[in-house]
Order: sequence, then C-alpha cells, then structure tokens
Amino acid sequence: MRRILSILAGALLCVVPALADEGMWLPSLISQRIADMQAKGFKLDAEDIYSVNQASLKDAVVLFGGGCTGEVVSKEGLLFTNYHCGYSYIQRHSSVEHDYLKDGYWALKREDELPNPGLSVSFLDRMEDVSAIMNDAEDKELAAAELVKQATAGGKGLSASVEALYYGNQYFLFVYRVFSDVRFVGAPPSSIGKFGGDTDNWMWPRHTGDFSIFRIYADKDNNPAPYSPDNVPYTPKKYFKVSLAGVKEGDFTFIYGFPGSTQEYITSDAVRYISEVSDPAKIGLRTLRLDAQKKYMGQSQAVRIQYSSKNASVSNSWKKWQGEMKGIRKMKTVQTKKEYEAAFEKWAKGTRYEGITEKLADIYRRLEPFNYAREYTSESALAVELPQFASSYFSAQPENREAVKENFLKDYYMPIDKESFVALMTAYGKNVNEEFRPLYYEQQMALYGSEQAWADALFSSPFARGDYSDVENDPVYIFRREFTKYYNEQLLPVYRDLTAQITELYHDYMQGQMEFEPDKTFYPDANLTLRVAYGKVQGYEPQDGIYYHPQSTLTGIIEKDNPDIFDYDIPQALRDIYATGLYDDQPVCFLATNHTTGGNSGSPIINADGNLIGLNFDRVWEGTQSDVTFDPEICRNISLDVRYLVFVVDKVFHAGAILQEVEFVN
Ligand code: ARG
Ligand code: GLU
Repeated sequence: MRRILSILAGALLCVVPALADEGMWLPSLISQRIADMQAKGFKLDAEDIYSVNQASLKDAVVLFGGGCTGEVVSKEGLLFTNYHCGYSYIQRHSSVEHDYLKDGYWALKREDELPNPGLSVSFLDRMEDVSAIMNDAEDKELAAAELVKQATAGGKGLSASVEALYYGNQYFLFVYRVFSDVRFVGAPPSSIGKFGGDTDNWMWPRHTGDFSIFRIYADKDNNPAPYSPDNVPYTPKKYFKVSLAGVKEGDFTFIYGFPGSTQEYITSDAVRYISEVSDPAKIGLRTLRLDAQKKYMGQSQAVRIQYSSKNASVSNSWKKWQGEMKGIRKMKTVQTKKEYEAAFEKWAKGTRYEGITEKLADIYRRLEPFNYAREYTSESALAVELPQFASSYFSAQPENREAVKENFLKDYYMPIDKESFVALMTAYGKNVNEEFRPLYYEQQMALYGSEQAWADALFSSPFARGDYSDVENDPVYIFRREFTKYYNEQLLPVYRDLTAQITELYHDYMQGQMEFEPDKTFYPDANLTLRVAYGKVQGYEPQDGIYYHPQSTLTGIIEKDNPDIFDYDIPQALRDIYATGLYDDQPVCFLATNHTTGGNSGSPIINADGNLIGLNFDRVWEGTQSDVTFDPEICRNISLDVRYLVFVVDKVFHAGAILQEVEFVN
C-alpha cells in the first residue's frame, strides 16, 4: 500500500505545475532539479552545470575576494565582477594624479594590468557529501580538520572546508583552487559604476553600470602562484561565452554564485524578532548615524569624499532592513509560520518531534533580551569610530601603528563621530535596560550627567587631540575596552550557548519538516557555498496599480542625469553618445525571479543556452525579505545587462580591445 501511494505521489509530481522560483540549489545535486529547469526552458544538461569528469560551467565561476562572485569570460583568464566588488581595489590604485574612481581605467596592454595584493579568487574544484563520516565522528571538528587536510595535501593553492547544511543534517566538503595573482584590467568611472548611488540602491528602475574587469594570472604551468611579473594569464577549464541576443520577459535565466546567508526555516518567533524588534532597532540607530553623516557631507566636498564609502556601507543594510521588515509584515510571515507550526505539532503528536516548536519558542524567549542587547550594543557603543581606532591602534604592532593611524585619519571627520556618539548613546540609555548595560556606563553617566558632556570629555581627550603616547589609559580607549568586555563576557556567552541549543533543535526540526512534507524539495540555507538559482526575466507590481517592466535603458539614465545631484551626474561622454540618437534603447539593467542574496553580487546570470547575459548586483527593495521568506510575486534580482558593459567599454570609452578575446554569440 505504501509503495503504491508513493508511486502515485511520484506520478502526481509530474503533473503538478512547476514550483515557483524559490531555492538556492547545490550544483552537485542539480540533477534533482534539471527536469524542472528544462521544463522552464533550459537547454543544457546537469553535467554542463556541474561535473567531476569534464569541464562544466562551475569551472568558470569564482568566489571573488571574501564575499562576491565573479566569472571567467575568456581563454586568457579575463574576469567580470561588479564595480562595487572591485571598488576598494580600484580605490587603492587611485590618487589625485590618477583618479581611476573619477575617470575610470582601461588597461589596453597587459603591462598596464595592475596587481592587487590581498585579492584572491577561488574556483570550486569539487564538492563531496561527507555526511556519513561527519555523523559517525565523535569529534566533528577533528573529523572536519582531517578531511580538509587530506583534500588539500599536495595540490598547489588548494583550500578546503567542511560545511554543515540543513543545520547539520548533511555535511559537504568543498575543495577550492585559490589564485592570488589577480590584476585589475578596467572599470568605468564611478559615475557609471555607482550611478544612482545610495539613492537608487535596492531599487528599480535601476541604471547602474555595476561592473569591473580583472584577470587571473598563474605560473607557467597554469597553477596558482603568488604575484610575480613572470606569471602568465590563467587558462581556464571553462569560460562563459557572452550573448548579445538580449533578454525579454519570460526568458529562462539561471544564476551561479556564492550566496552568503539565508534563514528560510526559522520559526515564527525568530521571524517576529527580526521584523518587530531587531530590524526596527537597527534601522533607528543607523538613521542617527546617517543623519550626522548627511549633515556634514552636505557642507563639504572633502567630507563627502571621506565618508562616501562608510556612508554607503551604513546605508546599504539600513535600507535592506527596511525592505525586509516591510516585506515580512506584508507577507504576514509570522502568522503563516505560526499556522505551519500548529499543523506540524498536530502531525508530530506521538513522534520524536512532538513539542519541538514549543521548545524552540522557550529558548527564543530566553535569548531575546540578550540578543537585543548584543545587537543594540554593536550598532551603538561599538559603532563609534574613534574608540574603534584607539583599540586597533593599541593592538597593532608598534611598526604598524603609523599606518593604522594614517589609514583611519584620512577618512575621519570628528564632528560626525561626536554627534553620532551623542545620538547613539542617548538611544542606548533609553532602549537598553539597566540589567544589560555595563556598570561603566552608569558610572560615566553619573560622572558627566549627560551624553553631551560625556562626549565633550571623550572627544577632547589626549588621544582625541592626537597625543597617542598613553592610549591604554585614555578615556577613548577605555570606552571601547569596557563595552567590548561587557559584550564579550556578559552578552556573547549567553547568546552563544542559547544559539547552540537552538541550532541543535533546528537539526531535528529540519528533519521533522522533511518528514512532515515528504513531497517538498528542501534546499539548504545559503552559507557562502556555490549554488544555482533559476527563474525567468520578469517585472513586478511594487504597489497596487503599478507594474515595473523588467528592462531599463540609456534613455532612463538621461532622464535621471543631473549635474547638480552627485548620484546622477553622468560623464559627458555618455551625454554625447546619447545625443547621436543611435542608442535610445540601449539596454542597461534587467529584473528576474532568481533567488539571490548578499554574496551573489557579480554572479553570472545565464540564459537557456548557458551563455552570459548579465551580472547580478542587487535585489529589489520590496523583495529583500527573501532571506527569510521568498515571495515569487515580488522577489526580484537585479542584473546589469551585459550589452551595457560592452557598450560602455567599446562605444563610450573606446576600450574594445579589452573585449577582443571574449567570444560573443547571439
Ligand atoms: N545593494 C547592493 C548590495 O547589497 C549594492 C551595494 C553597493 N551599492 C551601494 N550604493 N551602497 O551589495
Ligand atoms: N549587492 C549584494 C551583494 O553584494 C547583492 C544583493 C543582494 O543582497 O541580493 O552581494
């Protein structure tokens, strides 16, 4: 009977309409999804995506630096990624005489390609299910270390890690080849690469030319090697061909990349904490910092340059959290999860899963005040810049201190930091209960009477005035030391302990959910390992009565162009080329339904034939809850249309020589 039922269920599966585009799938298990992908238009096979026997598309995808994705696009190791992923390296090559941020850079000869100390890219060599070994192991850490040791023995540039999936229900070994000679080849000016800035960040319609170009170098035997002038361009096993055919609504797309972190299987309590407690609190605190930054950045060009990168990173999460919080509320995820948990518990009666959601709820109740204080402290007291600097200055080796100091001071403007301090500490006093504050805080407040007086004292200390001789006893350093100590000794241990208990329960809850819904395919949460997501080009309805089309064009850039607004001031060359009237419809960015998250920046977005059509760089604001809950109606990833990359390089900056080695197809 059971057998018949399961055959029936299998037969049913085939006629059930294809599922929505949620999911970040493991490449080595993509054969489980390939029928669905092909039904939706994909023309290649599982072996073309991931194979241990032959070159496959995975051999053209890299983890770029510590948290972005890139793709190889030529026989000679040419690499595309986002502008915002290459930004800090481009910044380091820039000076007043050669301002590559302002003017862009194009290495038309190999000698002009610039090395980037500290930058590496990693190719996934292979991945392997090691669950059996890990589950049998007495000591998991030891077992993982042993697996890593075996996997990396003898190979040049090999690195490996064992990662838990589904809260430890499955373990995979990932083996990478790491190349550390990666050179900067080219990028547009930031007025193209960051066009729209933070105004347009997380938004559609979007017109950002978010790309930069690098090249991977290897030794003469094509192996990873540290930078050397004798290194040669790397010959990849596989590279993407670039499609100039373009996209239209409904076209199949897929994304290959390194999504960082998602939490799709957490309970209603955890979701409620995110949308009702954590996000609102963090948004409030970041608003205070952004207000102080904005005030002074508006008054001085120099301060605007100093704070542009910090401002971008503070505002990036600030904006994302707002979308996430709104999205979770709009989708009523807390309610939906509550109902799901009730149904689960009904099913679980008498099984070993009975009561698991209540156990989770109980630990979450105990965790919440600690987690809140932990997050609040790190977004307030620990976010003040000068004490951060005092602490890194103090812990730096004496010979490095001068560099730490220079690095900090060049982008520091004290009035912003001091105003932030007053606002942040006032909020801290109001919103964190006394039992979760260090005694040090009460003492200082008793001593000074107000946050302002405290700030006046701190920001005129010897250290604040540039006398670094006794940093260890300086109030600025002590501020950091005391808050860090409280954080590390009072908040973190409880947080870690309860979180570990929660993870253990999730291990079982995850299993339980799989048994509860045997027909559902569960995908593992993102953890910065290589994944495939697939979907289609599609617009969306951000609000009642509005439909957003999935493609933007050069005309939209010109409509936004305004020399008086920094984020919208485009290079004259772009105005001139538009004026020819030949490029009104030049595509710039497009939307699709692929499930992505932070870390997918720079990921190749690929068409049904396996050719590159764009570079992923963002999601739409209304859909950022997809890290917690995916809504196929509204969750969209934003990609640069690769035809805009070609247009900018070739037509706007006449640097087409760089793309000569790229294989273009229709
Ligand atoms: N929102 C994108 C991401 O999360 C782009 C961030 C960089 N751009 C910016 N304007 N801050 O990384
Ligand atoms: N911009 C993000 C990144 O740096 C990608 C956007 C997202 O979070 O989906 O990875």
